[in-house]
Amino acid sequence: MHFDTFIPAFILFAVIGLILPIVLSNIAEKGRNFTQEPEAAADSPATAEEASVYEQIGGAAAVDAAVDVFYRRVLADAYVVHFFEGVDMEKQAAKQNAFLTMVMGGPHNYTGKDMREGHKHLVKMGLNDTHFDHILMHLRATLAELGVPENLIQTIIGVAESTRDDVLNR
Ligand code: HEM
Repeated sequence: MHFDTFIPAFILFAVIGLILPIVLSNIAEKGRNFTQEPEAAADSPATAEEASVYEQIGGAAAVDAAVDVFYRRVLADAYVVHFFEGVDMEKQAAKQNAFLTMVMGGPHNYTGKDMREGHKHLVKMGLNDTHFDHILMHLRATLAELGVPENLIQTIIGVAESTRDDVLNR
């Protein structure tokens, strides 16, 4: 399948070799903050509640890594890969990156279509709940692979879940 060659090897190596260790150490450090005693958390004003999910997972570097890992998983999934045939995955990754950044409370750089418009033609191709579930499963697995704490994974999955009816055009 030609998507196998779509993500050049150097990007994978960059993600695995360079970005991932940075992201993981960043997240590990933040993870320690989440487990602080309540008194200790009260001492420092910049507690987890005040930081956006975007900041908590490690900002731009973490979202970049997440989008790369996410699409690697999605394009390896025979159940959904046909929806992505002919799609420019570089542009797609950039849109997905900007969208995820925005919904997680980071900078608003998303200028793509709304979710209903962006997926209407896919619904005509048969896109349904089972495909949506696969995408959520890949998102969850990606975040877990990057070491994002479970409470943040749940928040992010909740945001993604809230787009279901729009994505499925109903
Ligand atoms: C969690 C739910 C989802 C989110 C947040 C999401 C996000 C996005 C975004 C931001 C775009 C760019 C829209 C634009 O063109 O401006 C997009 C396009 C696209 N999405 Fe999704 N998506 C979701 C679910 C799905 C599902 C379930 C599939 C298929 C299995 C899918 C397949 C695609 C494809 C193929 C495109 C490119 C369409 C094209 O350019 O022809 N998405 N999505």
